[in-house]
Amino acid sequence: MTDHVIVTDDTAARIITMRRPDKKNALTQSMYITMAEAITSAQTNPAIRSIVISGGSGVFTAGNDLEDFARANAAGSDDARPMAATQFLKALAHNEKPLIGAVDGIAVGVGTTMLFHCDYVLASTTATFSTPFIHLGLVPEAASSLLAPRTMGLQRAFAMLVMGRTVNADEAREAGFVNAVVAPGHTEVEALKVAREIGALPPGAVALTRKLLRPARGDVLRRIDEESQLFGERLKSDEARNAFAAFFARKKKA
Ligand code: COA
Repeated sequence: MTDHVIVTDDTAARIITMRRPDKKNALTQSMYITMAEAITSAQTNPAIRSIVISGGSGVFTAGNDLEDFARANAAGSDDARPMAATQFLKALAHNEKPLIGAVDGIAVGVGTTMLFHCDYVLASTTATFSTPFIHLGLVPEAASSLLAPRTMGLQRAFAMLVMGRTVNADEAREAGFVNAVVAPGHTEVEALKVAREIGALPPGAVALTRKLLRPARGDVLRRIDEESQLFGERLKSDEARNAFAAFFARKKKA
């Protein structure tokens, strides 16, 4: 459990809110675990018809906590990526409830890759989406190397995942991973409207139809494992070490 993630149940949806504003909602190991448990425990509760993931107002998340990455870089083990993150990513892959993303502000790294597991995404006009793994000497995660090209086509996925380019809310809608762009501060309320709309539909048919739309779970889990192995290796690389050091050196100068 962590105070940095708030889990609440509305009439139609479980709402998972990342709340670590002083660090732009950067995700720690305990945040991943709390989020994974919130997703997993929702599966067996028929009253929860959808899950909303939100960062509240102003920021979605700055991605994985870079201090945790730096620690993994310094650690001697040959492990794949630290387990808490993988637990969260696998909870996303196993999830069978409609998943709604509410993105107000920046969505960096896993902040963007988790959206490829969402079924409906609301973004505010201030939202930006970036997967700067390449700049950190890392590789994609969360099966984004499989899901991003499937969602937006190879060329757009290349620009994001290989070139590390950022896209804004309108570009993300055009690319197909954002449904609607709304005013800043309105993503969560709009997400709840979507959850209520879904909640009024026949649950059995929603579950089956969602499953038919999504790629085979086994393929997604295999890709998460493949990426996670490479990610763990890259976390130990000199390229990654230098990138983490540069980020924290930048902070010290400011
Ligand atoms: N991990 C750990 N701390 C982070 C963080 C992260 N991913 N992102 C931001 N923070 C911290 C900063 O260190 C800073 O902490 P401090 O006030 O104690 O120094 C605080 O959050 C605010 O960040 P700051 O950089 O001052 O805000 P900004 O508005 O100028 O920039 C970002 C925001 C997100 C663009 C910038 O912080 C950034 O690039 N973060 C790293 C993103 C990243 O690479 N994530 C991993 C992806 S795989």
